[in-house]
Amino acid sequence: MYSNMTWQIIGDGAIGCLWAANLLNCGQQVHLVSRKNNIPQRINYTNLQGEEQCYPCSISQCLSDTSSPLIVCVKAPQVLQALKQYRSQISEQQVIILMHNGMGCAEQVAQLLPQNPIICATTANASLLSAPFNIVQTGLGVTYFGPFNCASRNFASLLATLNQALGNCHWCEDIEKKLWLKLLINIAINPLSAIFQISNGELSKAVFQDQIKQLIKEAMQVLKRLDLKFDEQLLLSTINGVIDATSNNYSSMNRDIFYKRPTEIEYINGYLLKKAQQLNIETPLIRKLYNEIIALESH
Ligand code: PAF
Repeated sequence: MYSNMTWQIIGDGAIGCLWAANLLNCGQQVHLVSRKNNIPQRINYTNLQGEEQCYPCSISQCLSDTSSPLIVCVKAPQVLQALKQYRSQISEQQVIILMHNGMGCAEQVAQLLPQNPIICATTANASLLSAPFNIVQTGLGVTYFGPFNCASRNFASLLATLNQALGNCHWCEDIEKKLWLKLLINIAINPLSAIFQISNGELSKAVFQDQIKQLIKEAMQVLKRLDLKFDEQLLLSTINGVIDATSNNYSSMNRDIFYKRPTEIEYINGYLLKKAQQLNIETPLIRKLYNEIIALESH
């Protein structure tokens, strides 16, 4: 499909740098797009074994070309803004891969760029940005990619390289179900860990487990009406599996509140609340936590 391809990654955060370093590590050309000034031309990466690597990398404030794939790794509230900013440098054939927490962005991107192939991705890989362009990988996990629109159905071949870079990458025709699963995990973990400023592991305490059960019970009513089949007990054990696997980590929303940055709440609880409202379903605890995060964000 591509002869001389450069992976263009928008977003120099933990996930953007993680993909950049791992693609560079397997010999791919990468161009990282950053909004920073004084940009170095390298990424420092500490892998799961604690080995430090320094990868020379092309980094600038612009896209490098109008044909190779774009991996958008900014947080959900910044996706549309970032693509609007680079719109004149994006061609209609260019495939756009969206990788962030939450749902609702792909619809916005499809309105902005109606001809472009759009792929949605959700990853369980975790990394920490210890300083600008310095990342430490903290967890290895599965990444699912799948078509959001008809134009992106032929792009499964991209997976071979992505899989070579980070492993455990899968093409999934029913990506919507995977995105919902991640959204439910985020609904259970992110607001509680952010409001109480606790690590994910603290959520295994009984007081939080009761709230997580309530959150999932409320979400299940919406899922049923949308004909999305999830088993409540399996969902709870998946969520507790993530809590255990990331017990020492602080969730992304916890860090956003801590560092007084905008959170992804609108694309997590907010997305579910919109669906619930359309269906006339009350989801009081999901709404309460949504309101509390909005209040914390404005402090
Ligand atoms: O947003 C996050 O931090 C992660 O998606 C998750 C799975 C909640 C783990 O911290």
